[in-house]
Amino acid sequence: MKLAFVGGTGPEGLGLAMRFARAGHEVAIGSRSKERGEEGAQKITEAVPGATASGGANADVVPGADVVFLTFPYSGQQATLEALGPALDGKIVCNVVAPLEFQQGVGAVALNVPGNSALQEAIAQLPNARVVSAFQNMSAEELQHLDHPIEADVLVCGRDAEAKQVVIGLANEIAGVRGIDAGGPSQSRYVEMMTSLLINLNRKHKTQSTIRIVGL
Ligand SMILES: NC(=O)c1ccc[n+]([C@@H]2O[C@H](COP(=O)([O-])OP(=O)(O)OC[C@H]3O[C@@H](n4cnc5c(N)ncnc54)[C@H](OP(=O)(O)O)[C@@H]3O)[C@@H](O)[C@H]2O)c1
Repeated sequence: MKLAFVGGTGPEGLGLAMRFARAGHEVAIGSRSKERGEEGAQKITEAVPGATASGGANADVVPGADVVFLTFPYSGQQATLEALGPALDGKIVCNVVAPLEFQQGVGAVALNVPGNSALQEAIAQLPNARVVSAFQNMSAEELQHLDHPIEADVLVCGRDAEAKQVVIGLANEIAGVRGIDAGGPSQSRYVEMMTSLLINLNRKHKTQSTIRIVGL
């Protein structure tokens, strides 16, 4: 598949792109700056021998993509989606955004967002796109350690069952990872909030934690 990463120049977008490039997918790194997008693609080809990677402005990487990943901070979500607008119509869009902020003396704090979750806000803003959420609990650092299998579950939320299956299939292509259908859009809030807990656990225990659901 062709996978695009809007805001793909950060550690999370690059980490996911590296893993998916390694699995044989074509990746395109998007940025607010064409040059940074191109530099991001260069990082993928350096890290993954034989990768097919390109880069450019966010608006340039979206049109050819089968799945578009949103890998920028929550603070940029509304404006970025507004700018991309109709280019995302009909596309499978996977929102990786976890709304959070860092507070001195506290650490990561999950934000209560007006639309209940970043996913629900994205769905409301993009009524013609097939928006789901996933990978919010997956550490960028672990993703970029390409030789480490990642022991993790990826909880996929959304209302488009077929889109969820596509993203679950992609998650399953990362060694050690299991994609799970975690329900409808309202469930995404809990997944998104868990990211703050994981960041604080990582700081306290000096590790890279993630989640595994038992009993399924
Ligand atoms: N880092 C992790 O371990 C991790 C784990 C799980 C989930 N996440 C989630 O994944 C998302 C990306 O994480 P990250 O750590 O890669 O983030 P990041 O480094 O802060 O941002 C990623 C990229 O987004 C673009 N960006 C920054 N501010 C923006 C804005 N206001 N509007 C549009 N684009 C903007 C920047 O690219 P350009 O300047 O090139 O445009 C930046 O390189 C976040 O929502 C985060 O909560 C991260």
